[in-house]
Formats: sequence, structure tokens, C-alpha cells
Amino acid sequence: MKIVAKKGNIENAPKGYVRIGFTERAKGTKRFVKGKGIEILEVGVGKFSEMNMRKFIVLCRAIVNAAKTNKCKRIAIPATSFKNLETYNPEDLAQLAAENFEMANFEFNHFKTKPKEGFDMVEEILLHGMFSSKMETALRKGQEIGKAVNACRTLANTPGGDMTPTLLAAAAKAVARSVGAGSKIKVTVFGEKEMKKLGMGAILGVAKGSTEKPTFTILEYKGGKGKPIVLAGKGVTFDSGGLNLKPSSGIYEMHMDMSGAAAVIHAVALAARLKLKQHVIGLLPSVENMPGNGAYRPGDVLKSMSGKTIEVLDTDAEGRLILADALTYAKRFKPAVVIDVATLTGAAISALGLYASALLTRDDALAERIARDAEASGDYVWRLPLWDEYEERVKGTFADLKNVPGGSTSRYGGAIDGGMFLWQFAKELDCPWAHLDIAPRMTDAPGEELAKGAAGTPVRFLIHFIEHYAVLNKN
Ligand code: BES
Ligand code: MN
Ligand code: ZN
Repeated sequence: MKIVAKKGNIENAPKGYVRIGFTERAKGTKRFVKGKGIEILEVGVGKFSEMNMRKFIVLCRAIVNAAKTNKCKRIAIPATSFKNLETYNPEDLAQLAAENFEMANFEFNHFKTKPKEGFDMVEEILLHGMFSSKMETALRKGQEIGKAVNACRTLANTPGGDMTPTLLAAAAKAVARSVGAGSKIKVTVFGEKEMKKLGMGAILGVAKGSTEKPTFTILEYKGGKGKPIVLAGKGVTFDSGGLNLKPSSGIYEMHMDMSGAAAVIHAVALAARLKLKQHVIGLLPSVENMPGNGAYRPGDVLKSMSGKTIEVLDTDAEGRLILADALTYAKRFKPAVVIDVATLTGAAISALGLYASALLTRDDALAERIARDAEASGDYVWRLPLWDEYEERVKGTFADLKNVPGGSTSRYGGAIDGGMFLWQFAKELDCPWAHLDIAPRMTDAPGEELAKGAAGTPVRFLIHFIEHYAVLNKN
């Protein structure tokens, strides 16, 4: 899609471009008005005086969606200022608009036969009354970000049969290659042999039930000197639950259980594309969690790379197991900060609903920073506690740790247990660490004006975080 900033107001829009108009009617209303050969598509905004950042993001998507449904391939949008947004930098708003235009102009139609007339997509957007070279730069950047989010959605949406751990590692390589030579990303892929040598018993344990071999992929982008920002993404390419098999209702979308890994791949690639002056490392532990003959069993004890042993009380709590080894592996990079990203628990969805990922960390400064970047990016998060009181729940009976508490209180606060389990490994790092449970944001939610399927969370947050990290990085 082309997005072009234009001089002059909307009256100068060229022929053949449908002009967008805004009305104060409730959001979602759209209609065509024709006069003198000028086509206008009205988009309901709700009360202009009640505009805010969250609504602005959804409005940008709603414009594109209205154009798509009305088969308008070329649209012209008037620069409109909303009183409540006047405190924001216009370039930031332009970037945000471009991001969200791109996100709305996406559908996962990879497996659909192309209709004769093509898919209903917007081809060009003119933004009238917004021209300046700074605007242009902001729009290009916004488009890059939006495209990275969409590429992440494509990867996450790919069915389990077409996206195994081996294929995920190959996808990481392909994405890294696509960035081009100027901002090289180094990719290393470990197979079973290397993981055995490293003693990654937790990853290897989970992988045993599948005929698909596990992989551990490392992406490194060195755009700056100094200690790296390490991002670890859960790469479960299909989560059947293992021997603690999921019920049919819970198993359906589990090809997206590698959404964390997909987001990390595309955040690292985007950092390189934007030539950010940061040192970033992505770690992608990847397995398929299956109940095959060799499967790990409830009651089995796994020896993690850290040396800590783990009783498996539930084979469906697999994400924390593979991430445990990734967190231990992270230590060798002497990171400045580590963030792991995972579709870890249904409990996070119960706690927060569909509109925020859960943030768990023991570091208040990092929590504040993350909350700020998350809010600005549109990948919203909300913090849950990781107090000492919860720690007893992950201590093992016959091993050092157990992967779920078990017993009658096991289902309480499951997102916190997941975080507390990971903390047992993250505490060995000499740096701040945070865990993002993105299960609530794995797919689109009602009212968001996003296509069905993977939501591409939290690529936008991660790129904000990487870009603005300098301050904390100094110490
Ligand atoms: N991948 C799931 C969590 C999930 C559920 C993500 C729904 C997105 C949507 C994870 O591996 C899992 O199965 N978690 C269990 C943990 C439980 C066994 C403690 C869960 O949430 O039920
Ligand atoms: Mn699971
Ligand atoms: Zn899972």
C-alpha cells in the first residue's frame, strides 16, 4: 500500500480518490454520499471531544476497513486535529496512523484462492494537508512497523503442519536474510545434538512426544555496542497439551502457540531494518508439544540447563519449561535486560480479558518503562504481582521445582505461577528481567478492527522498547 502525505486540503484530492469524511455518529457507521462526481465515505468517530489515543488507533483501522468493505482502492484523508490529541507530536501521530493503516490492510489469505477481481485491499492513501519531510519519514517508519506486525501475524497464523520447529528456524533465517546486507542479523540454529551438549533437558523433555525435532534459534543484531537486550520467545509450534491432552475447545488455536517467537523474530528484524543503534539478541526455543509414544509423562523429572530439576505435574505447562532453558542460555550474553514473550497461560486471559497482556517482573523501574512503551505502542500490558508469597507454589516435592502447583489451589492465579516459575531461572541473571504473558492478545479481539487470527502482539511494543532503552542501558 502506498501512503502519501500531500500539500493542500482535501478539496484538492484528485479524481478517482474516495474522500474520507468524519462524523460524530457512533463509531463503526459508514456510508457513501455522492455529489458532483465526488465520492465521500463517511466514517463515524463518536464525539470528537472524546477522542483519545486508543480510539485514534482504532479509528485509523476503521477508515481502512470501511474502504475495504466499500471496495475503495484509493482514498484521500483530510488532516484532522482532535483537541485531546493536540499535546502529541504530529509526527508520532502520523507514524501511528501509518502503522495502523497497514495493520488494517491485512488478511491472512495465504491459503485462499485469489478471486478474479483480487482481494479487497486498499492500494493508496493520500493524507491531505500533512506534507513535510518529517511527516514523510514518520509515515515510512510507521509502514515498516505495520508491515513487521503483519509479517508476524502471517507467521503465527501458519498452521501447525506447515510450521514445525525446523520450519520456524528456517523462517527466522529467511526473515533475517530479507533485511539485507547493510544491517546484518546473525542466525544460529541448534538441533538436538547441540542442545544435548548444552544440557537443555527441559526443552528436550517437552520435545519427546513429537516426531518433529526441537530447535533453538539465536538471532543477533549488533546495531550498537554494549550489553545486549535479550528477547526470548516461546516457540511451541503446536500445543496439544501432551499427555495431559487439551479438550477440543482448547486445542483449536494452538498452532499460534509460537506467537512469542514470531514476535521476537520480527522485532529483531525490524530493529535491523530501522537501523536502531542497539544490540539485540533473540532466543527462540521451539518444540511441538505432542502425546506421542516417547512423550514426557506427568511425574517425570526433567533436568534443566541451569541444573535445577523440575517435576512435571502437567505436560500442558510446557511453555515455562522451554523458556527456562532459554533464560539460562541468556546468561552467557551478559545481558542488560531480558524480556521473555509467551502465550503462557489461559489464566492470563481469565485475569485480564482480551485487551491486555500480563506483565510480570520484580523490577519496578523496568515495569514502569515497559508500561509506558506498551501504552504508547498500542500493545497494552497490565502488571500482575510476583511477590515472595507465591514462590512456595513452584517449589518441588521430589525435585527442586514443579511446573504447576498441583492440588486444589492449582488453578488459582495461574499466570502468576507461570511468571514465578520463570523467575526461578531469571533470578540467576544479573540484570532486570520481565515476562510478558501474551495469551490474552494472541488473536484479534472484538471491536479492534483487525482481521481474524493472530494479532501480532507485541512487535510494536518491542520495537518501542528497543528504540527507547538507552536510559536504563547506561548503568
Ligand atoms: N499455550 C497454552 C496457553 C494458552 C491458552 C495460550 C489459550 C493461548 C490461549 C499453555 O501452554 C497452556 O497450556 N497453559 C496451561 C497451563 C496450566 C496447565 C497450568 C493453561 O493455561 O491451561
Ligand atoms: Mn500448554
Ligand atoms: Zn503452550
